[in-house]
Amino acid sequence: EDVSSLPGRPPVVTIMGHVDHGKTTLLDWLRKSSIAAQEHGGITQHIGAFVVKMSSGKAITFLDTPGHAAFLSMRQRGANVTDIVVLVVAADDSVMPQTIEALKHATAAKVPLIVAINKIDKEDARVDQVKADLSRHGVEIEDFGGDVQVVCVSGKTGLGMDDLEENILTLSEILDVRAETDGMAEGWILESSVKQNGKAATVLVKRGTLRPGDFITAGKTWARIRALRNEAGVELSEAPPGTPVEILGWRELPDAGEQVLQSPDEAKAKTAVEYRLEMAEREESSVQLA
Ligand code: GTP
Ligand code: NA
Ligand code: MG
Repeated sequence: EDVSSLPGRPPVVTIMGHVDHGKTTLLDWLRKSSIAAQEHGGITQHIGAFVVKMSSGKAITFLDTPGHAAFLSMRQRGANVTDIVVLVVAADDSVMPQTIEALKHATAAKVPLIVAINKIDKEDARVDQVKADLSRHGVEIEDFGGDVQVVCVSGKTGLGMDDLEENILTLSEILDVRAETDGMAEGWILESSVKQNGKAATVLVKRGTLRPGDFITAGKTWARIRALRNEAGVELSEAPPGTPVEILGWRELPDAGEQVLQSPDEAKAKTAVEYRLEMAEREESSVQLA
């Protein structure tokens, strides 16, 4: 598929790493707010997804990952929602089980990796140990002749954060991601929950543009889009490719990891969902027979 003539879209950068290694703190620095401090108990309860206007003016979409369940589900369906993975490794803790898990994701998705060795402000930081451990786990870091960039940072003091931002921007420019903005839209459910104002799902638009009034399906449910909102709760008139948006208007709550497909009208959305329900029922009864 020749995409070189298509419009550019924000690259999607996913921050992965072991629990408490500082993913949210780093993201926080990048968007200069204080999400980590506000989070209940400091544990990320949902996938944060938002667009950051970098100092260069370029927009980059960042995804924070508390767990990797939705990503696993999307990957199993052959979807690569992310263009770049930033792997956060705490310098005082080094490579841990979820670090290895994140590495597996990045490798399987064939997505370029940037390693951020975080918490280098700490007295017990062991940067060389982390590099050796990463290397032992097959990460071809630049220090040992590979091409994976390693940036030493502190999300607490901001040390090295300019370099991290720079590396992300440089890699984004090399990747030069593009997508169709017209035609039937397509995307993925990153998270979903019942909120005060109804059933809400965060959707990452992959191609096409979603607008209020549009019909979309996601697995066994569908929506007539009542509202599109960004992470700050601001209502949007449209969501082009690379944009994460909260969507309201679902009949039932869709599952994280489901594919979102636009339908031309309500009847077609309903038919698509009915068909999927029927297929699922058939599969179930054939399993029971076997
Ligand atoms: P989960 O979402 O729970 O997996 O954690 P996380 O990876 O998002 O880590 P988070 O940003 O919540 O940070 C965990 C703890 O480490 C918090 O207490 C942070 O203040 C602290 N922390 C993060 N970055 C740094 C750093 O660079 N230096 C120091 N000293 N502490 C840090
Ligand atoms: Na945490
Ligand atoms: Mg977090």
